[in-house]
Amino acid sequence: MDKQPQLRALEKEISDFVVRRTSKAPVPGEGSASAPVFFVGEAAGANEERTGRPFVGRAGKLLTGLIENQLHMRREQVYITSVVKWRPPDNRKPLKDEIEACMPFLNRQLDLIQPKLIVLLGNTALNSVLDHDMKIGAVHGRIIEKEGRRYFPTYHPAAGLRATRWKKALEQDFVQLALELEK
Ligand code: URA
Repeated sequence: MDKQPQLRALEKEISDFVVRRTSKAPVPGEGSASAPVFFVGEAAGANEERTGRPFVGRAGKLLTGLIENQLHMRREQVYITSVVKWRPPDNRKPLKDEIEACMPFLNRQLDLIQPKLIVLLGNTALNSVLDHDMKIGAVHGRIIEKEGRRYFPTYHPAAGLRATRWKKALEQDFVQLALELEK
């Protein structure tokens, strides 16, 4: 069965939930229902709130470039979302209750798409989806298997914009990610 209509219906359900709960602009996620790789960020920022699309600001441009140049894929072929499906006030870190409210939706997106790899971008994604105590600096660039899913933590692209060493680490991780996706 074609999963794309189911995914669009789930995105609509997420958007309706966000509007009901926050009266804010929803950013449910976008991409292919048959994506081999699924990217999870932290929360929407100003550009995402304005457009309703994930990762369309400066960090998004870096991520899109990595997808195109290192994975040789187009954005439409992957799936991109964040843990929190709206923009927290003043771009603060998401609160525990915001993360908890959104996690069931992330799990349903993952269950539907069943990607080969789930890329956790930064500590918020890593700590929300996997272990609270893990640090990106310690676990990035390698596969973590848990409950039948395969995760690949790496730096958040916004960190890559802040420091060259994190950008380099991101680029190196994406080389590894491309190899894993070819397996
Ligand atoms: N940062 C995120 O974590 N997600 C977005 O969609 C944009 C920026």
